[in-house]
Amino acid sequence: MAHDPARPQVVRAHAKINLTLDVLVRRADGYHELASVMQTIGLHDTLVLHPAPEGEVALACDLPELANDANLALRAAHLIRQMAGCMRGVRIDLLKAIPMQGGLGGGSSDGAAVLVALNQWWDLGLGQDALIDLAAQLGSDVPFFIVGGAARIGGRGEVVAPLVDLPPLWLVVAKPPISIPTPAVFRALTPADYSDGSATDALIAHIQAGTLPSLTDAALLNALEPGVWRDYPAVAAARDQLLAVGASCVRMSGSGPTLYAPFTDLAAAATVYHAAKDMGMQVWLTPTMPRDV
Ligand code: C5P
Repeated sequence: MAHDPARPQVVRAHAKINLTLDVLVRRADGYHELASVMQTIGLHDTLVLHPAPEGEVALACDLPELANDANLALRAAHLIRQMAGCMRGVRIDLLKAIPMQGGLGGGSSDGAAVLVALNQWWDLGLGQDALIDLAAQLGSDVPFFIVGGAARIGGRGEVVAPLVDLPPLWLVVAKPPISIPTPAVFRALTPADYSDGSATDALIAHIQAGTLPSLTDAALLNALEPGVWRDYPAVAAARDQLLAVGASCVRMSGSGPTLYAPFTDLAAAATVYHAAKDMGMQVWLTPTMPRDV
C-alpha cells in the first residue's frame, strides 16, 4: 500500500553480518564469485524521508562528511527517480548508527532502504526483482538488503535467495579501531583461500531443518579472515580479546574489520559485551532480525 505522499516517512536500515562467506573464484571482471549466508541484525541507521518540491533531491546526515554525492542513500533516490521517470522531490535525513566501512553493510542498507521506501511512497510499482536490479547498480552488497532476514547470496552479491528465519541469536558485535578498504581485502586473497561453498551449503541445510550448527566450531567460515588476520594485526588482537573474555566463536563480518560473537543465551552474551566494553572496545549487543521486522 502506498503511504500518504504528503507525510514524512521514518525508515530503519538494518546492518548485516555474514554468517558464512565462501569465496569460490576470482572472475574475469575482477569481482569474486561468492557463496554466503547474510543475516540482518538489530543495529540500524534511521532515515526520515521528507516531501520536497519537484526536482529537489537532498541529503542531511548527522555525520556531515557523509552528506555528499557518493552517499548510497542519495544515489538510490536519484537512480529510482531516473528509472521510473519520476520528477518528485525528497529530502532525506540520515542518522548513522552502523559504523562505516566496517563490513556491516551500513551504506548499502541505507541505499536499499531508500529504494524500497520511495517505490512504496511514490507508488512506482516496481517488483522485488526490479528493485534488486537497481540495487546491484549501487554496489555488490545492496541487493541483499532488498530481501533482508537470512538469505543465500551468490554471484558477486546480486543473486539473493531468501531463507526461512533462523532460531534467534544474540550477537556481540565489536568494531576494531581501524578501517579496511574492501578492494584491498579481496586483492589479498590467494587461491588457498578459495573454497567450494560447502560451509554455506552446510549452514543452509541446518537453517532449512530449523536448527543451528554448534556455534563453537568452524561452521561459520569467512574466507576473507586469514588475509585480514595477517595484514591487520589489530583485528586479530581484537578477536583474541573477545575469546579471552569468554566468547567461544568469533567471526569477521564481510571484509571486516567488524567482528561478531554469536550466542543463544542473552546472559552469556551480556557478560562478554560488558567485558569488551570495559576494555574500551566499540561494541554492541544486538539480536539477529527476522525478515518481517
Ligand atoms: O560492488 P562494490 O563496489 O561494493 O565492491 C567493492 C570492491 O570489492 C570491488 O571493486 C571489488 O574489488 C571487491 N569485490 C569483489 N568481489 C565481490 C564484491 C566486491 O572482488 N563479490
